[in-house]
Amino acid sequence: MQRRIFMRLVGGGTVAAAVASLAGCATDFPAEALAPWQGPGKEPDTRRWALAHAILAPSPHNRQPWLADLREPDAISLHVDRTRLLPETDPWFRQIMVGQGTFIEALALALQERGLVPVVTLFPEGEFKPREIDDRPVARIHWQPGAAAPARDPLFAQLLRRCTAKTDYDTTQPVLPATLEGLKGAMTNPDVHFDASLDPTRVERLRRLCWESAQVELLTPRTVMESVRLTRVGPGEIALHRDGISINTLVPRIANAVGAFDRDHPPAPGSTAYKQMTSRFEGHSRTAMGFVWLSTPTARHAASGSQRSAEVAAGRAYMRLQLKATELGLQMHPMSQAPQEFAEMKTHYDELHRLLLGQPPSVETVQMFCRVGHCAPTQHQPRRGVDAILRA
Ligand SMILES: Cc1cc2nc3c(=O)[nH]c(=O)nc-3n(C[C@H](O)[C@H](O)[C@H](O)COP(=O)(O)O)c2cc1C
Repeated sequence: MQRRIFMRLVGGGTVAAAVASLAGCATDFPAEALAPWQGPGKEPDTRRWALAHAILAPSPHNRQPWLADLREPDAISLHVDRTRLLPETDPWFRQIMVGQGTFIEALALALQERGLVPVVTLFPEGEFKPREIDDRPVARIHWQPGAAAPARDPLFAQLLRRCTAKTDYDTTQPVLPATLEGLKGAMTNPDVHFDASLDPTRVERLRRLCWESAQVELLTPRTVMESVRLTRVGPGEIALHRDGISINTLVPRIANAVGAFDRDHPPAPGSTAYKQMTSRFEGHSRTAMGFVWLSTPTARHAASGSQRSAEVAAGRAYMRLQLKATELGLQMHPMSQAPQEFAEMKTHYDELHRLLLGQPPSVETVQMFCRVGHCAPTQHQPRRGVDAILRA
């Protein structure tokens, strides 16, 4: 089947050698790209040990947009790595800020596991403006050596296990209401609002919205190109970059090997590349067995200049939620197309807020919107390692 698709893709002939060399190849990501998932072992340096857990946090497009400053003892200052933004799909950097929160929560869980009491101060030099980011720290996380150890958080145990499965869910396996109740138990910040739905009519409408909004992203040249440029195909590229969208299946690898993977133009509607991209989104949307979402009050944060803090808080809550989902054997996959703020998405953005919250985004902002369900385990996504995020 894969071979047939491939032949249609590149027309056969000269590429027989490429097929032969790749036939039977494993789709597992290269070991060096996954090494961070082994954990830091007996790493003696507390900060490196904790950072080795924090880099396993989820981030949009696996950008890992973090820089850690270790110049102060018993502290870590976190900055946004502004070379790792997503300006087309995330023009105001909201998702990047959510991805700072996931890192902070994982870091705090790891420090607690080490018997420390992490104190997280957001924006110690002042908060970024709502649609801007700059070089000031997002957070300073510090601790007093020898302070009384806090209770360890059982969610820590899920850090090395968690992953975002990007496959169709099993539609014969429903999500139980009790599982969603269990998820809710992971929420600790009352300023981040959790809600969920398993209602068939609502789920069907939200599935449709996922699919419709995905098509907007895929048919808008500059937004689809952002993903194309961050796509890593085959073991060589995956091991080199260890970020972005990693693909190691046969057809794209062959296309890449013979120069048929076009990185300069959006996939033409109707082309094999387009069909492959769209079918993934279609399958993910269609097999959503329920949805969960996190939101924060817009006007209150706008009035107090704390919109960026709210985004980070949502990221911390999302980290906890996905770890709890892992503990409960539930899959949770962000579907961030409708919540994106680029102009062409506006109708779907507004519709998402109407369907989830019954309120416009000026009142409450959807920070994370995810499908939930069950599927076979999938492999972890690459990580760049601790040294890559240390600020010189
Ligand atoms: C703010 C945010 C938005 C995300 N949006 C999407 C999304 O729209 N589609 C998707 O497939 N994954 C999304 N993800 C998941 C990331 O792609 C995923 O975390 C990353 O690839 C690393 O994989 P891992 O979570 O398995 O470690 C999002 C994650 C975050 C934190």
